[in-house]
Amino acid sequence: MDVQLTQQERQALQDHKKHEEVCIQKYEQFAQQASDPQLQNMFSQFAEQERQHYNSLDQLLSGKQPSTSGGGQKQNPAPGGAQSRQQTGGGQNKEDALLCRDAMMMEKFISDSYDNGIFQSTNPAVRQTLQHIQDEEQQHGEGLLNYLQSQGLQG
Ligand SMILES: [Fe+2]
Ligand SMILES: [Fe+2]
Repeated sequence: MDVQLTQQERQALQDHKKHEEVCIQKYEQFAQQASDPQLQNMFSQFAEQERQHYNSLDQLLSGKQPSTSGGGQKQNPAPGGAQSRQQTGGGQNKEDALLCRDAMMMEKFISDSYDNGIFQSTNPAVRQTLQHIQDEEQQHGEGLLNYLQSQGLQG
């Protein structure tokens, strides 16, 4: 079934797409910059999910309802294994922590922006898609926070 969008919804979806593009690029960069392999994996996994978000927005914009239910199974990102706590010299841990904090700011921003999008639309397909995406952005935030705490880097 076709999704009919208002001009405002269309504009908001375009903006979300731009934000997701930044998320994809940042997480791809971060996956290369991080020194802890566990963190590299988490960033790569997030980059993949941001790509799915981008595609879902694209589908909405072309009038199709994305299949949000099917996508990525809910895996709790980064349970925070204490085993991967190799001390590789304080500097690298700090660099990794900085990447996590940068990512958290980005997730907070994009989660807020989805929140606005949800409040500005009565279209069920738009609301459902944005809610699904926002849920995953919050999981990203949670994964980042869990990682920092598990490494004793919080605070
Ligand atoms: Fe996203
Ligand atoms: Fe995210």
